Amino acid sequence: MIDSGGYIRDIFHKSPGARVEANGWVKTRRDSKGIHFIQLNDGSTFQDLQVVIEAGAVPETALAGATTGACVKVTGELVASPGAGQAVELKASDLLVYGPADPATYPLQKKGHTMEFLREIAHLRVRSNTFGAVFRVRNTLSFAVHKFFQERGFLYLNTPIITASDAEGAGAMFRVTTLDLMNLPRPVDNAADFFGKAAYLAVSGQLEAEIFALAFTNVYTFGPTFRAENSNTPRHLAEFWMIEPEMAFCDLDGNRKLAEDFLKYIIAHVLDHSRADLEFFNKRIDNTVLETLEHVATSAFEHVPYTEAVKLLEKSGRNWEFPVSWGVDLQSEHERYLTEEVFKKPVIVTDYPAEIKAFYMRLNEDGKTVRAMDVLAPRIGEIIGGSQREERHDVLVEKIRAKGLREEDYSWYLDLRKYGTAPHAGFGLGLERMMMYLTGMKNIRDVIPFPRTPGSAEF
Ligand code: 4AD
Ligand code: MG
Repeated sequence: MIDSGGYIRDIFHKSPGARVEANGWVKTRRDSKGIHFIQLNDGSTFQDLQVVIEAGAVPETALAGATTGACVKVTGELVASPGAGQAVELKASDLLVYGPADPATYPLQKKGHTMEFLREIAHLRVRSNTFGAVFRVRNTLSFAVHKFFQERGFLYLNTPIITASDAEGAGAMFRVTTLDLMNLPRPVDNAADFFGKAAYLAVSGQLEAEIFALAFTNVYTFGPTFRAENSNTPRHLAEFWMIEPEMAFCDLDGNRKLAEDFLKYIIAHVLDHSRADLEFFNKRIDNTVLETLEHVATSAFEHVPYTEAVKLLEKSGRNWEFPVSWGVDLQSEHERYLTEEVFKKPVIVTDYPAEIKAFYMRLNEDGKTVRAMDVLAPRIGEIIGGSQREERHDVLVEKIRAKGLREEDYSWYLDLRKYGTAPHAGFGLGLERMMMYLTGMKNIRDVIPFPRTPGSAEF
């Protein structure tokens, strides 16, 4: 029997003298006068297990096959390590090579590969130090998300990935079809398509989450979302993961408070549970990461209404690439100025002009602005987008028309306002934007296992 469950991270908690078996991939190998050193890693922890093989201790053929990238099993005794950086090391008495890796062709030989190169070998980059740390942090983060909402009694629901409605009303959607593209009659007959109508990949699960909030009070989704916008930036993906809580009996202030509590909670959790990985990012990727996270986890976010934010930007004296005036959407350069230079911490901007926000946001008394909120973070810009929703049937109908959307496409959404409507609010956090914030990684393509961006979908 091969028994699962023995991790290298557990071996570090054992004492010298223990007999152990370690399975993993050889990260590096060093040979010096009849003694061989292997750094072994199984992904369970940042730290490699140092394996020491003395002359004649293991079969020669196995030793020859245990080169960088090979997958091996080492059996032996744990001994106190004379080297710095580890308390114990494994003195091998047997070695088995599950799978060799030809040193002449294995791509992860040398240190110092560029991120671009590593992106091209997404099937192997996960074995490197950086990507090991990235995906362990992503795992810890995902767990913290569920923990936060479950502790508060939120119901987890799965919203559809294939949808017939455009949640953001922005139109950047991927079409899902079984129509024969090589032989497409014009005009296109949507009724002949798989679902009997046009269907798309969901840009958000919000509208369906609203259905559930108006039955279960507090709910959240955590799933993949898809955007066909041609944004080739370090912050945009065509496929990304979003966490969307939706709360009945909640207004914009309640929404803002939940978003702040949520971000602080997940940061604190990751600081507690992925310390070694964060220390690596702090040392090798961005040496402000730890300090920033510790600070953010304990200090109040700034809140500024859009109108105030625009005044701050106007009087900055900056030469903006995108000029600012009341009514324009904030660009990355503006968001970074507010978070990095004015406030030096996360900032929640609220009450944006109705014109630049989605149709479902609640109209303020002024008739010009809506109860929107964006949480902006230093380095990243927008990390959360959310709002209090328009719960008044007549106002919502007006807004749908004003945006040039078709009322009949949103009949079920309008029904929610006809039957037992309630004030409600919610937001969406982009998981990968949060990952960038936690790790200091500069390109969003490097915090998701298999990035999809314009012109690129490996595998
Ligand atoms: O601001 P967005 O578009 O909001 C919504 O989709 C709402 N339905 C959320 C809600 O209220 N339930 O997107 C929310 C977040 C952004 O703040 C950003 O973090 C992330 O999703 N995001 C992206 N992340 C990576 N690549 C993209 N192309 C992204 N677009 C949005
Ligand atoms: Mg947004």
